[in-house]
Amino acid sequence: MNKDKGKTIIITGASRGLGYALTKQFLLNQWQVFPLVRKNKDAKVLKTISESKCFPIVSDITDIKVQSTIRETIESHDGIDVLINNAGVGGSGVLLNETRPDEVLSLIDVHCLGVLRVTQAVMPFLVDEGILINVSSRFGSISKVSAGELDNIACSYSYRIAKAAQNMLTQCMCREFKDSSIRICSIHPGRLRTDSASMDADRTPEEAAEILFERLKSIKHGGFYSLFEEMIEW
Ligand SMILES: NC(=O)c1ccc[n+]([C@@H]2O[C@H](COP(=O)([O-])OP(=O)(O)OC[C@H]3O[C@@H](n4cnc5c(N)ncnc54)[C@H](OP(=O)(O)O)[C@@H]3O)[C@@H](O)[C@H]2O)c1
Repeated sequence: MNKDKGKTIIITGASRGLGYALTKQFLLNQWQVFPLVRKNKDAKVLKTISESKCFPIVSDITDIKVQSTIRETIESHDGIDVLINNAGVGGSGVLLNETRPDEVLSLIDVHCLGVLRVTQAVMPFLVDEGILINVSSRFGSISKVSAGELDNIACSYSYRIAKAAQNMLTQCMCREFKDSSIRICSIHPGRLRTDSASMDADRTPEEAAEILFERLKSIKHGGFYSLFEEMIEW
């Protein structure tokens, strides 16, 4: 990482939940933070946390314009050390006959294509030894789902499909960039008490943000980390 300046991070989905907690955590540690939010009012709230170190980006990751908006905001800065693709939404149809194809497409647009759009825009600015973290979920693990480990926890088809698609995108990038200095990984942040909480949620986003911050240095390329447990099988 670039050692001659303050570290810089982009975090998507920063208006609330884990993204908001991560934004506060990195600001607390004197990083420059570019939190991406959809609404101006959320950008204004974030700006009040740190006028000098917080530079909100207002955009929607399902809109291709997110790429030019990100580029225009960060090109005058001295490189990006870390990108956390965190923005996400839940789905509703838990059973086959409740699953609407349009909901599946819409969640893939956020969890997989949204990550693709943002990462394409940020990658040219990522510094040597930069880090890309995609926030996935235990529900995106085909190993866990197929082993029946999550059978008793309701989760939509669309969310599971979209996170599995994101995981494949992560692995495609891991293979492409295997010989570079960039580290790319995926994390399951834990069962967090946020607006998207699962029924077994037992941790706060602040706890997850603290652990993620501490783990940054030890993150290895290609891993699927669980912040409160063992590594996850893809
Ligand atoms: N909570 C959990 O237990 C849990 C477990 C595993 C994985 N995760 C994953 O962790 C991440 C964060 O989850 P969370 O619980 O913090 O969720 P959350 O509280 O529901 O917050 C979701 C965030 O994503 C943003 N977002 C949604 N769609 C977007 C779009 N199209 N463009 C830009 N931003 C968008 C939301 O913005 P608005 O405020 O504008 O809607 C919000 O900031 C998600 O990827 C989620 O799938 C969460």
